[in-house]
Amino acid sequence: VRDGNGVKGLVDSGISQVPERYIQPPDERMEKVVESSKDGFSSVPIDLSKLDGPDHDQVVEAIVKAAETLGFFQVINHGMPLDFLESLKNAAHRFFALPADAKSVYLKGVSPSPSVKYGTSFAPEQEKALEWKDFVSMVYTNDGDAQQHWPKECKEEAFDYLKSSIEMVRRLLTVLIGNLGVTLDDSRLESLIGMKMVNMNFYPICPNPELTVGVGRHSDMGTLTVLLQDGIGGLYVKLEESKLDGRKEEWIEIPPIPGALVINVGDSLQILSNGRYKSAEHRVRTTSKQSRVSVPFFAIPRPTTKIGPLRHLAELDGGAIYREVEFQEYMSNFFGHAHDGKKSLDFVKISAN
Ligand code: SIN
Ligand code: FE2
Repeated sequence: VRDGNGVKGLVDSGISQVPERYIQPPDERMEKVVESSKDGFSSVPIDLSKLDGPDHDQVVEAIVKAAETLGFFQVINHGMPLDFLESLKNAAHRFFALPADAKSVYLKGVSPSPSVKYGTSFAPEQEKALEWKDFVSMVYTNDGDAQQHWPKECKEEAFDYLKSSIEMVRRLLTVLIGNLGVTLDDSRLESLIGMKMVNMNFYPICPNPELTVGVGRHSDMGTLTVLLQDGIGGLYVKLEESKLDGRKEEWIEIPPIPGALVINVGDSLQILSNGRYKSAEHRVRTTSKQSRVSVPFFAIPRPTTKIGPLRHLAELDGGAIYREVEFQEYMSNFFGHAHDGKKSLDFVKISAN
């Protein structure tokens, strides 16, 4: 098996059983996932075109409520037409369908630019069991330098997606942060989304979906994530303990809706809001039926930005529940560990005593 072709290479080689190193411990497998009733959680996508009309207040309320409860919601009329989203998915398929030699030039250590990375799983050196996923990650830089090195098979679509996503994230953040009672000046807003990145994920069909995960339980480290998923499904979000009334853990599937995009809150926004907005734990199932692609756009604080709870919220709440850190510290901690639910937030949590 050649590492240069990831999980896809493994599947293409005709395996009939997943190798040992992909077998998740029983607690991480998704066969026994308890699907929560969707009571109290709207799966109705939010119409972003209404943000500028007479329904402005209702739309704001829906966005805020979703961010405060599940931490996930879907949007429509976001400015990216259906045929564009189709072309973005096709671009992802085009990239992963490349022969191993063409993809492996982007592997860590050999990639022509630190802004492009092709890989498999999340943190293979740290993981007890590997994730059933290949990805290519493309970082954006304002000077346009990095984009030159993005793979030509998907570069144009990824770049258009990035530009439209940035616009949408600015609008959503303005709403969410405005609701916290502050108006951020442009430079502060930009510092919260100063790093921008598009990933393309490929989840090959899996001969033993009951034993594996596409992505293990985790929260995103950034501010907001915009995600395009295809029609296969399998993205699950964990309900907060406080919503369970003592029942055991439950998950809600974020169903594929043609033309919609998924938005989720990341750790940085949870920290900034002193816990009001939820960076939700989520994960992805594998299937034996069809391969799946997804395309997340991550808006991430600039490495030098200090991330901590807004001061007036901490005062209002009788204390900050997170300490302030320079974001690059947070990021090193995040990438230094395997996916493990919301453990990443422990790095800044102030323990109550
Ligand atoms: C992720 O959250 O890492 C991936 C989400 C998805 O593929 O749907
Ligand atoms: Fe994620």
